[in-house]
Amino acid sequence: MSHAAASASGSESRALVLQEFGTLPLLVKRPVPEPMPGHTLVRMEAATVAHLDLNVLDGRFGILPDLPSVPGTQGSGIVLASATHPEGALVRLRGEGLGLSREGAWAEHVLVPDAAVEVMPEGTDAALACIYFSPVGTAWTAVHPIAQVRPGERVIVTGASGAVGAMAVQLAARAGAEVVGVVGRPAKLLHVPAPAKALLASNLSEAAIGGKADVLIDTVGGAVLRDALALVRPRGRAALLGYTAGRELTLDLADFFLADVSLLPVNMISRGREVAADVARLLQELASGALTLPYESYALEDLGQAVNRLRTGEAVGKVVLEFSAGVG
Ligand SMILES: NC(=O)c1ccc[n+]([C@@H]2O[C@H](COP(=O)([O-])OP(=O)(O)OC[C@H]3O[C@@H](n4cnc5c(N)ncnc54)[C@H](OP(=O)(O)O)[C@@H]3O)[C@@H](O)[C@H]2O)c1
Repeated sequence: MSHAAASASGSESRALVLQEFGTLPLLVKRPVPEPMPGHTLVRMEAATVAHLDLNVLDGRFGILPDLPSVPGTQGSGIVLASATHPEGALVRLRGEGLGLSREGAWAEHVLVPDAAVEVMPEGTDAALACIYFSPVGTAWTAVHPIAQVRPGERVIVTGASGAVGAMAVQLAARAGAEVVGVVGRPAKLLHVPAPAKALLASNLSEAAIGGKADVLIDTVGGAVLRDALALVRPRGRAALLGYTAGRELTLDLADFFLADVSLLPVNMISRGREVAADVARLLQELASGALTLPYESYALEDLGQAVNRLRTGEAVGKVVLEFSAGVG
């Protein structure tokens, strides 16, 4: 066991523990987990508060933990003890039922299966390490393999200040497209990345975007999707990937044939592996500042505020819990 692991062993550590679905986890002190074969002990630096985590808190997901349990499906931290991963390395934690069928990342120290651990390139920012994969992978998949955005095309991105939306705006612009970023509330207009034209969903019209669009990348669903879809030209493409604003879309088949727009689902469960190398390359660009991924960060004791920002849709980009440095 490393010096850091030995000094953490037997000491106390803070954790957010969910006692009952439909409530917020309570911040409690408990012993640092003991190292175990096949597992990695990590001192957490950051953890994501994601829509999936909210579903777990609410007890509304197909896989739920036995309570009490620590939520948190993704995080990042420093390895304290592991037979598989280098001690002292910054790692990303995900998968293997983390925060679902087993305890998750909302704790200062976590013990996770080795397979849930991925070592990050040296110098990666800890918050970035826990948030980048899904938005970058999803945006890349939508813009490139799915919508195949080409130079000179006009692209509408909805939810353009969100994590996936902001990344899709930047990647479509890099592909040479003229991008219109659509947001739901005025406060978000300022957060649409340049060089996109920022527009309120309530002001969306063919005149406002300068003609029909070639491509729609929709991250919100619901009425925003319905309205934006009407602005895509015949033989255009619409990549659909989210439904925070509503999960139903009504299609009049006659109108659908007439509109002649391809509706293309983005499914990162099936596409994640295919884009892993592109995502790794883009992480370097995030680290250098060539691309930006918005996020808001909160202390463990401010979980309620973090959850509220995400639930109300007021949050700009990802929501992250950042743990105080130097514990353990
Ligand atoms: N298909 C896939 O494989 C895949 C992969 C990753 C993510 N996703 C989904 O993609 C969507 C976007 O992810 P993200 O990480 O970019 O999320 P995010 O940062 O939270 O952005 C979501 C955006 O949705 C808009 N929104 C509209 N109605 C909302 C409501 N009732 N509550 C919250 N937000 C609302 C908000 O923008 P305005 O305020 O401008 O309306 C917000 O910026 C999510 O639904 C996520 O589950 C899908």
